[in-house]
Amino acid sequence: MEHTKWYRDKVFYQIWPRSFRDGNGDGIGDLWGVYEKLDYLQQLGVDGVWFSPLYPSPGVDCGYDISDYMDIAPEYGGMEAFRAVLDGLHQRGMKLIMDLVVNHTSDEHEWFQKSRRRIEPYTDYYIWRPAGPGGKLPNNWDSHFEGKAWQWDALRQEYYLHLFAVRQPDLNMDNPLVREAVKKILKFWLDLGVDGFREDVVTFLSKKEGLPDDRLYPVFKGIRFYNHGPHIHEYLQEFRRDVLDGYDCVTIAEAPMVTPRQALDYIADPGSREIDMMIQFQCMCADCFFSDYMPRKFSLRRLRRAFSTWQRKLEGRGWNMLYLENHDHPRVISRYGSERYRVESGKMLAVSYLFLKGTPFIYQGQEIGMTNWYPEKTAMYEDVQTRNQKPDWPEEKRLKLYHRASRDSARTPMQWTAGKNAGFTTGTPWFYVNDNYREVNVETELADPDSLLNFYKKAIALRKRLPVVRDGSYHDHCFGSGKLYVYTRETQRQKLLVICSFTDKPVRFRPPRGCDLNRMQLLLTNYDGSLEGSGFVTRPYETRVYLHET
Ligand code: NOJ
Repeated sequence: MEHTKWYRDKVFYQIWPRSFRDGNGDGIGDLWGVYEKLDYLQQLGVDGVWFSPLYPSPGVDCGYDISDYMDIAPEYGGMEAFRAVLDGLHQRGMKLIMDLVVNHTSDEHEWFQKSRRRIEPYTDYYIWRPAGPGGKLPNNWDSHFEGKAWQWDALRQEYYLHLFAVRQPDLNMDNPLVREAVKKILKFWLDLGVDGFREDVVTFLSKKEGLPDDRLYPVFKGIRFYNHGPHIHEYLQEFRRDVLDGYDCVTIAEAPMVTPRQALDYIADPGSREIDMMIQFQCMCADCFFSDYMPRKFSLRRLRRAFSTWQRKLEGRGWNMLYLENHDHPRVISRYGSERYRVESGKMLAVSYLFLKGTPFIYQGQEIGMTNWYPEKTAMYEDVQTRNQKPDWPEEKRLKLYHRASRDSARTPMQWTAGKNAGFTTGTPWFYVNDNYREVNVETELADPDSLLNFYKKAIALRKRLPVVRDGSYHDHCFGSGKLYVYTRETQRQKLLVICSFTDKPVRFRPPRGCDLNRMQLLLTNYDGSLEGSGFVTRPYETRVYLHET
């Protein structure tokens, strides 16, 4: 089937279903709740939704531990609610993307339960190894969430590999039966009418033969033996050839630590085009090393480098996926912006990435400027990754780290109103509501023309109106600056100038060569944008978007 690349014109919205909107009053977000909010999404101007996992799951990793790939969890409304949402989106001309999590399953998945008991054909569905002398682990790899990457199974009397939580055993993708099972899953959802997949840690699927000890890396031990492993391209090409090529669908791969050069091996077009877009992590590392739990001071230079390198290296060869928030990271205003200048910096951050080349994703709550959550005790955190960070540290120090780094900040219920439970549920919410909901909520912001929410609407609409945002070349300017991020996008007929101040301090902005502000039209700004000659001094977190047309 022809691949029309329809996703290049779209703006997506990510829903983390448990916290979006509860439609039946049980305190847990669900698809009935999503159904109620379809018009909200359409009015925001987004063209599609990526759903974090909706499948049945024991919830060890909030749905990323799947126990049945071909069903929708009853607490989310089951298949009936899913069909209603799918139809509702399609009727509005919007797309639906599922999360495909096949690096691992839940330990409650039938495959794992049979594999433990050596019931064929499931015996080799997972990565099992005998204990070494004295019960020694098969190798020294770390898991990302819970200690070492091996867990002893008393029933099978072997270790199994888990790159994430203990209860998330890794599938053995080298087994052709497992790959056939993955293809069945893809086909099942595509035949139901979904428009594509976001593929969880997909670059981890193929592990190096022999699973060697890692004697190099001090952190994430083992990752060099399973990230971009030996057969990854083969397997992804197989999925494309046998299933995906039969549908005009999109695939987006989550790819920790991927560089643009490595990304092109997956997404180059023309090329094997195993995947359409990669979720890179550099844009999440402007205030940390590798992971949010290794903090360092925010650096605009680092963020600019991430944006600019990806823009330049993919130009004409691949397509970018753009984001500043998702369910795995704390809120961006609290990280790269300012809670004190919440609205101003939220608007500036929106502009910083919405006018880049690629397909932007907006995470639930980002559009209203939700910020980090600051509970009083570490015991209030829910997330398996968070709870296992620095267990031996004193409470106070741990709490400080979690406040800064925990992804639970992105998982508090969506704030719809200033009323009870922020309008998320009529029951008891499954998780804490952020205290700032009386001020930060959809209802209040819809009523305020200057709100962040209405700014997002304008920015999205503008992006869609201007061909230069989709097609134009990218140039960054003021690159020595640690305070201003300035870029232009250019086609023969249009030139867009984007100015973003990442500070509350005044900075003198001088337009780059070829940009005369007096001859350009100011299209979008977060202040009353009076022109002051050919340059201006920025106000806190000021942003402006100018256009020149010939
Ligand atoms: C990446 C997902 O985005 C994250 O939420 C999850 O915990 C891990 N993969 C494991 O599936």
